[in-house]
Amino acid sequence: MREKLQKIREEAMRRIEESKDLNKLNEARVAILGKKGELTAVLKGMKDVSPEDRPLVGQLVNETRAGIERMLEETKAKLEAAELEVRLKREVIDVTLPAKRNLSGHRHPNTIALEEVERIFTGMGYEVVEGPEVEYDYYNFEALNIPRNHPARDEQDTFYINDKILLRTQTSPVQVREMEKGKLPIRIIAPGRVFRSDEVDATHSPSFHQIEGLVIDKNITFADLKGTLAEFARELFGTETKVKFRPHHFPFTEPSAEVDVTCFKCGGKGCRFCKGEGWIEILGCGMVHPRVLKMSGIDPEEYSGFAFGVGLERIALLKYEIDDMRLLYENDMRFLRQF
Ligand code: DAH
Repeated sequence: MREKLQKIREEAMRRIEESKDLNKLNEARVAILGKKGELTAVLKGMKDVSPEDRPLVGQLVNETRAGIERMLEETKAKLEAAELEVRLKREVIDVTLPAKRNLSGHRHPNTIALEEVERIFTGMGYEVVEGPEVEYDYYNFEALNIPRNHPARDEQDTFYINDKILLRTQTSPVQVREMEKGKLPIRIIAPGRVFRSDEVDATHSPSFHQIEGLVIDKNITFADLKGTLAEFARELFGTETKVKFRPHHFPFTEPSAEVDVTCFKCGGKGCRFCKGEGWIEILGCGMVHPRVLKMSGIDPEEYSGFAFGVGLERIALLKYEIDDMRLLYENDMRFLRQF
């Protein structure tokens, strides 16, 4: 029996030694100690050993088993260490290689300009609201005091979906939608895309953006309009900026004005940027026409208000000194990266 166990042990040691990786070692373990292994067979044969020999044989079998298990453990540890070593070598990081740069995008100049305008007006307590780009003729024209045959419609010729529905030519219809809600006072700006059948050139596009403003409350006067827009201009173009209100006509405001600001390049002396004028036009505005208030369910005897409309691209072109509006739409990375 002693010899048999000795043979089993030697055979086991040899198999273990020959195991070149953890998989092979595991196979060896199963073959030696598993249910069908020789050592297990010996254990099963214990019942045939005479009772007086049993303790001794039992001890021998246990020693053999323990020896084999120790060898398995040691070999396993050695193989694991070797595999780790190989993996570490393979996965080594070359810190001298140039890093992969993450290209991160940024906001479009239009968006930067819009957020600047929103910052200024929300700072004065305005709320930012939006209206639909596909609009009813009623909101885009009729309710703004531009009836069917009004010549102002010509200037703003647009894309009609059908007789009653069109792509909005201005953000002014949002004024009407806001007034119709019946919640007063109102203090909003409404940015958004507008559409006109304009030819593309350096200052025109069939699709551009406006920011509408509307304030309705009791006792709102032209002085409020002037103060608000003067403050807006100073925040946007610098504290030295002056504003000039030129009389103008819009069907939905009375009186109406266009606002010029002093050229922020030359301070008003006249330069190439302002084409020698010293002034740059930035927006249209006026006191909301009583008829417009009435059509939207507001009593013009009790309430009054002012409105304004700014071209967003115009602001972006001025602020970032871009000389062609088309650049804003071409998505040329060489241009966009500059902002
Ligand atoms: N909607 C006008 C346009 O597109 C701009 C405008 C002028 C808006 C005067 C206003 C305003 O709210 O009061 O030409």
